[in-house]
Amino acid sequence: MASRYHDVYQGWHSDPMGFWKNAASEIDWISTTDKVFDPDQGQFGRWFPDWECNTCYNCLDRHVERGRPGQPALIYDSPITGAQATYTYAELLEEVEALAAVLQDNGLEKGDRAIIYMPMIPQAVMAMLACARLGVIHSVVFGGFAANELATRINDATPKTIIAASCGIEPGRVISYKPLIDDAIGLSTHKPDSVFVYQREAEIASLVEGRDHDLGKLMEDAVAAGRRVPPVPVKATDPLYILYTSGTTGQPKGVVRDNGGHMVALKWSMSNLYDIQPGEVFWAASDVGWVVGHSYIAYAPLLHGCTTIVFEGKPVGTPDAGTFWRVISEHSVASLFTAPTAFRAIRKEDPNGELIKKYDLSTYRSLFLAGERADPETVNWAIDQLQVPVIDHWWQTETGWCIVGNPLGLGALPVKPGSPTVPMPGYDVQILDDAGHPLGPNTLGNIVVKLPLPPGAFPTLWNADKRFHDAYLAEFPGYYKTADAGVIDDDGYLSIMARTDDIINVAGHRLSTGGMEEVLATHQDVAECAVIGIADKLKGQLPCGFVVLKAGVDRDHADIEKELIKLVREKIGPVAAFKIAITVDRLPKTRSGKILRGTMRQIADGEEYKMPATIDDPAILDEITDALKSHGISA
Ligand code: COA
Ligand code: AMP
Repeated sequence: MASRYHDVYQGWHSDPMGFWKNAASEIDWISTTDKVFDPDQGQFGRWFPDWECNTCYNCLDRHVERGRPGQPALIYDSPITGAQATYTYAELLEEVEALAAVLQDNGLEKGDRAIIYMPMIPQAVMAMLACARLGVIHSVVFGGFAANELATRINDATPKTIIAASCGIEPGRVISYKPLIDDAIGLSTHKPDSVFVYQREAEIASLVEGRDHDLGKLMEDAVAAGRRVPPVPVKATDPLYILYTSGTTGQPKGVVRDNGGHMVALKWSMSNLYDIQPGEVFWAASDVGWVVGHSYIAYAPLLHGCTTIVFEGKPVGTPDAGTFWRVISEHSVASLFTAPTAFRAIRKEDPNGELIKKYDLSTYRSLFLAGERADPETVNWAIDQLQVPVIDHWWQTETGWCIVGNPLGLGALPVKPGSPTVPMPGYDVQILDDAGHPLGPNTLGNIVVKLPLPPGAFPTLWNADKRFHDAYLAEFPGYYKTADAGVIDDDGYLSIMARTDDIINVAGHRLSTGGMEEVLATHQDVAECAVIGIADKLKGQLPCGFVVLKAGVDRDHADIEKELIKLVREKIGPVAAFKIAITVDRLPKTRSGKILRGTMRQIADGEEYKMPATIDDPAILDEITDALKSHGISA
């Protein structure tokens, strides 16, 4: 069947307002106006200004009212604890209303902020939906971040409350969340009024009198009392959530997502991009702490009347590399969305796919990959083993949904290995040189999106309009700077080649090398440092830190390197995967003093490199090569 993509994209291009108005008819609105887009509001215009809605209503109530009360809405599958649970739409609504009642009883109102710090348990999604029901703006913080990172987010979002669990569970260890939360509140200048703790069997946290509450107990009481909480009307342009993501410094960026445009874009994507019908099971094997988890574990599947899966486990080791296939077969998953790193991990453990053959995957139709570059080797392995379309698609926390992909629902386009295919309607993707001039096909340059960004993409950063403008809009006026570099070929296919800033991508997690450098620089013995991302077969990239010690430091370098590794783990968290610190005498620099991070990365990755013309002292590159070799990194 010929793909309808080109017609649909052209239709959007010639009438963007009509396109999005039509897509918006899939959402239940409380009130609408004739205006789909107001170019004069906000940083580049706002979608659906003055339209009123409630995201939780659209995710739950309307399916309960219109034919899906008994359909599973959420399946919890936790190979790490052995637990499983299924909530129908009616049951999930009851739990969400109970949680909303608890928040309301404690003074949470529309516009207040709540931080959610939870592992992959159903209560995390319930907390997001309960906030959405009340118009409370949630900010989910990934469990692998340390107290310091949590404190930064508490200070920026100034939440009235924190909704947490007593612990997370990683293979072989229980992560106590409560001490991290207490430390973070101790460190932060803003103090939340309350902390709600969902007590898990693996660890019962001690609660601070007067401030902390037992969330599970309060929810049980609210369910027993039959508490109902009507959805609160919010403007389409009101924030649904803030999600912090790495910037080029240690201060993360608070990406704001609104209510209306978000629902419209996600709903459109479920049928047209992912080719999923209401009633089917959609599984995003990510974490609710990341944007993929927000969009495709919590919101999109429920908006579309699907069943979503909350999976608490890893692709390997819980208990083996067959876990994904068990989940797909046991819960009749139609489509799986994950990061390529998960497939690299599975392939390493089960190269011949022996574990795949053990399961009935007859309901399974497609694999979507995102979050990092999908290397053709991994993609080809997945196609061979699973015999389903494997779709690479490119997006960012900022956009909230796919920028460039292969729309299965419109009819798949031919795949070109290494390319995530073509722009989705809403995105006019172009390549510019550093001076902002358009570049022709097949020429590497800055990937930008012509403004306005489509519904679903962020309208600004939380409390930081200027930072939003400076970081994303200032360099290429009239365009959104993606900070990715790439090329578009003669057929309009985009390839993503690299980031143009200091962001690295470790196991599909976006991390700031600048943030790590800020931490290393606080060590008493460090004079200067540089962190680069080096290639890793499993995680895509790994951070590698080079430090120059202060004059006169005569301690054992190996001890200092261990302390630096511990410091990054304590300040940023285990998710930084910072395990390589190397002391060197000098860092290679240009004559104007700019550290040659790019050349260092090329050396570490064993790539050919050109001696930078402006290098101050070429001999330092040999020193870097030797230092890498002495740490077992082949150069
Ligand atoms: N809470 C606390 N710690 C966490 C955590 C969480 N929610 N998630 C990860 N960590 C810890 C890990 O235990 C690990 O700690 P360690 O250094 O003591 O081993 C560290 O953070 C690094 O985690 P990660 O990089 O994820 O590696 P891993 O060894 O746990 O797993 C993979 C490796 C490839 C299996 C895993 O990264 C994976 O499945 N990734 C999928 C990527 C993904 O979901 N991306 C989201 C975008 S789609
Ligand atoms: P995040 O905001 O965490 O989703 O990270 C976004 C960044 O991850 C992008 O700017 C890219 O650098 C990278 N990325 C995401 N998806 C892809 C993809 N399909 N191919 C290549 N890089 C990707």
